[in-house]
This record gives sequence, structure tokens and C-alpha cells, in this order.
Amino acid sequence: MKPQEIQLSLFSQDEMGSAIRGQHVINVASVPQRSPFRYPGGKTWLVPTARKWFAQTQIGSHLVEPFAGGGIISLTAAAERYFENVTMIELDSDMAAAWQTILSDDCKWLITQISNFKVTADNINDVITHSTDGMKEMAFSTIVRNRTNHGGILARGSGLIKNGENGKGLGSRWYPATLIKRITEVNKMRERITFIQGDAFEYMEKLVNDTAAFFFIDPPYTIAGRRLYNHYEVDHHRVFEITSRMKGHFLLTYDDTPEVRGWAEEFNLPYITIPMQTTHLVTKEELLISDNFEWYGLNEFKYERENAEALC
Ligand SMILES: C[S@@+](CC[C@H](N)C(=O)[O-])C[C@H]1O[C@@H](n2cnc3c(N)ncnc32)[C@H](O)[C@@H]1O
Repeated sequence: MKPQEIQLSLFSQDEMGSAIRGQHVINVASVPQRSPFRYPGGKTWLVPTARKWFAQTQIGSHLVEPFAGGGIISLTAAAERYFENVTMIELDSDMAAAWQTILSDDCKWLITQISNFKVTADNINDVITHSTDGMKEMAFSTIVRNRTNHGGILARGSGLIKNGENGKGLGSRWYPATLIKRITEVNKMRERITFIQGDAFEYMEKLVNDTAAFFFIDPPYTIAGRRLYNHYEVDHHRVFEITSRMKGHFLLTYDDTPEVRGWAEEFNLPYITIPMQTTHLVTKEELLISDNFEWYGLNEFKYERENAEALC
């Protein structure tokens, strides 16, 4: 029997059912919202699970988030002191400008702009027009667009909120005091957070042999990625291939599809399913792929797997 077949039987949904039956969809209202962004595909719902994963840290462990987006997992890790050293990597230049500005002295300028901003279509256009003036202007434009575009979507071609959530029009997601509070808190953690505008693959490869690295990997998947992000094309097979060579810990999140399960099985990576609720309140299963699931309380599966592999 090939190892991945054993692994499949160990980690298939049927067998996992008894181990994780009774798990509940996380109520995101119970999780501290630390990201200044309302990010499509944001992982706030995964925070309680990520905390369990973080608990494996040892002195010198550091977190790497190669597809950082709104960065809620990195921000939680830094704020709750699970890691003293967190690296966020993101390719998108609008998001990169925002993170770099929030983590710099220009953060003060950004806060002033946010507190003075009045949400009107003309003012939004004006901010967008000035986005090419420099990095901080681009950062402000990213934040304004994230808060006034439908679904927080920053991809080219995305449109403004129409009637607005709660019928409050364009300003329905513009909460300056909350934004300023979150941005200030992130800025205070700047010693612990390194932001890099770059390619996830380059950094995953660079750190593949780092035994102290914890990789939280959340690439754009699904067809919807095309509508949600400017950078939506990712070689997923390559994500799995690099992950399979990582010497540190890793946690990947993906849609639960036969294709994704196929990649996990090809590279012999254990996976489980976890329920989540979409913004439209639809409950669905996501896949978590990790080097082990002891941190999730699944010791007995690990034990069986070792025995099973010994028989191969
Ligand atoms: C699913 S989102 C991440 C969401 C994030 N976990 C959160 O909670 O907000 C994926 C992100 O990967 C970024 N991305 C796509 N290709 C990339 C690449 N090659 N390198 C770095 N980032 C990339 C996209 O711009 C997008 O922001």
C-alpha cells in the first residue's frame, strides 16, 4: 500500500468524523478584529484554530505568512505574543503600500487623512487620483477603496458599494475611529512585524530548510480569486511541492475540492476539514493541511499513521 493511501484513510472525512465531530463554526464576533482591512478571503474565522497551531512554538520560532492579504493571522500572532518575529509577504502593490505605511512613521499622516476624510464619491475619486503621488498616498487610497468598494474588493474593475450595507450608502463601512485604533495598534507592533512586498514562492523556497519557521499559507484559490485579487494566478501544485519540503511547521488553508485533496495526497500531506461560515452565512467545509495534527488533538491518528507506514 502506498503511504498516501494510508494517509487518505487516516485523514478522510469519514474517519475524521468521530475525532472532530461536534466542532462548531466559529463565531467571528468573538475574535478580536485586528486587521484594518475587510479583506476578501480573510481568515478571522480561523483565529481560534491558529492559536492552537501557534501553541507548538519554541524559543526562536518565527511566523511567515507568504500570501498575507489582510494579515489577520500574523497580526493576532504578534499581538498575542505567540511569536516575537512575524514576516508578512504580499505581491499586491496597493496592499504593500498600505502595510509599509502603517508600519512606518508615515502612519501618523495616514491617521490624519483618515480622521479628516468625508465619504463622498468626489472625495473618493480625488484620493484615487492622488494615489500615484507616493507610497503614503497609495496607502490611503487602498484603505479608502477597501472600505468603500463592494465587498472590500481591491481588484481592478471592482465597484463602489451601492446602497451600502445597512442602507447607509457609500459610508456604510467607513468607521474612522475603529480604523485608526487598529492602525495604531499595528504600528505599535512594528518591531515584531516585517513586511515584504514580494513573491510568496521566492520566500517559501528561501526558508524551506528553516526548522524554526511556521508557515501560514493561504493562497487565492477558487475561480472567485480572479474577481477578488489582482494577483489571483498561483501554481498550486508548486505550493504543495514546496510545502512538502518544508523543515519547519506549516498550516495551509484551501477550499475542499477533489483537486486540492489530490495535491495533498500526491505529496503525502495530512489534511482535515473544518467548518466555516461565508459572509453570506453559508456554512461550508475548508481543508486544513499541516505537517501534523497533534496540535489539533489528533494524536491517535498520528500514532496509527506511524504504525501504518512502518508496515509499508
Ligand atoms: C486568500 S488571500 C489571503 C488572505 C489573508 N489570509 C487574510 O486573512 O486576509 C491571498 C493573497 O495572496 C496574494 N498573492 C497572490 N499571489 C501572490 C504571490 N505570488 N506572492 C505573494 N502574494 C500573493 C493576493 O494578492 C492576496 O492578497
